[in-house]
Amino acid sequence: MKRKEIKVKGFARRDGLLWGEDVDLRTITGKIGTPCFIYSRPVLLANVHRFQEAFTGMNALICFAVKANRSLAILQTLAQQGLGFDLVSGGELEAVLRAGGCPQRLIYSGVGKTRDELYRALSRGIFQFNVESKEELEGIRQCAKELGCCAPVALRVNPDVEAATHPYIGTGSAQHKFGIDLAEIPSLLETFRGWKEIRFQGLACHIGSQICSLRPFHRAFSRMAQLVRDLRTAGVRVKTIDLGGGLGVRYHREKPLCLKKYAELIRKYFAPFDAMILMEPGRRLMEDAGILVTRLLYRKETRGKQFYIVDAGMNDLIRPTLYQAWHPILPINLSAKRKVRKTDVVGPLCETGDFLAKNRLLPEMEPGEELAILQAAAYGYAQSSNYNARCRAAEIMITGKTWVEIRRRETLDDLFRTEVLLP
Ligand code: LLP
Repeated sequence: MKRKEIKVKGFARRDGLLWGEDVDLRTITGKIGTPCFIYSRPVLLANVHRFQEAFTGMNALICFAVKANRSLAILQTLAQQGLGFDLVSGGELEAVLRAGGCPQRLIYSGVGKTRDELYRALSRGIFQFNVESKEELEGIRQCAKELGCCAPVALRVNPDVEAATHPYIGTGSAQHKFGIDLAEIPSLLETFRGWKEIRFQGLACHIGSQICSLRPFHRAFSRMAQLVRDLRTAGVRVKTIDLGGGLGVRYHREKPLCLKKYAELIRKYFAPFDAMILMEPGRRLMEDAGILVTRLLYRKETRGKQFYIVDAGMNDLIRPTLYQAWHPILPINLSAKRKVRKTDVVGPLCETGDFLAKNRLLPEMEPGEELAILQAAAYGYAQSSNYNARCRAAEIMITGKTWVEIRRRETLDDLFRTEVLLP
């Protein structure tokens, strides 16, 4: 299929002002207000195409990890590019189906799938369940029996590999709750060999997120490849090999992996097996496709330390406080030269952990001016909450000169919709 060339401008300055593609961002914030997440559709498409290109010629399916951003218009855009999806809940399954995703391109991961969720996924005929324990396998068997169908499963292996990332986002070591011990795979396969409700089709692994070195992938892939060989020797055919996601992006000084090298590594280990390769990238597809725009409410000074109090907080973007993440922050308007100074950018929530940046060199700004927090498309809105009874932000998607509000800002009515007072 020949792809239409799209011009990518991304988020760049014109005469000192930050634009998103061909839109002056202030026209958006003037109508929608702040805080808001703004995405560039061309950047998103370029990220997808780059990923697809690295794997051309390989029997591979890229399944976007929905947890990174489950906004319907984002999923719709990705589904239109032929991507599959990696799900971790019944809610994510529903989101993908509403966005036009194809059930035969869905993988369902996660350690705690409920009966309800299993029923729904089974009756939709998804491509593969990545099973994380023997107990879950029994649950799937029961559901499949009741539905009179056969469940396609892969076993998620825990390869016992340290991912060299923040401790909260490593998943591949033996102490983590994820996956099945590599050594237990052959005997587990033996256990369900005769079960007619379960069809074994492959293996899966995912070692962690925001990984910028090939080394942990090397280790995990070589263990997976050895397992595939052992199983083949024992007469078990492995039709799908799911290598998870985890590719890091540049927030600050990280050097993200070259996609071609990552693809080469996969080819080296798995090309001999004639299996379908599945991947579950989340962050790397979102990367620079979205920003969070916030407004400066107050400038405050305490014993020589400057704070910018802005209208976005940890409920909008929890990454800085939860993972000590560093996101680039830029004033939208840089048309005049201004003095810079070390500043903490903090939100309005009543938590000391409510910060977006600490000791950041930022130009002098006046209340009312706007700031852009970059690299916010992955795990930004997706991890936002209503903490402190705050309404969640709006989301906007830009294509060229056109922008669409893909999710309106929550209202106070939205906030209280599910609650009742006592009689
Ligand atoms: N597959 C599985 C089974 C996963 O658990 C994850 C992420 C992915 C794929 C996608 O990983 P990615 O390609 O995005 O690295 N909230 C954290 C990241 C949590 C990642 C959880 N699992 C953050 O903001 O850094």
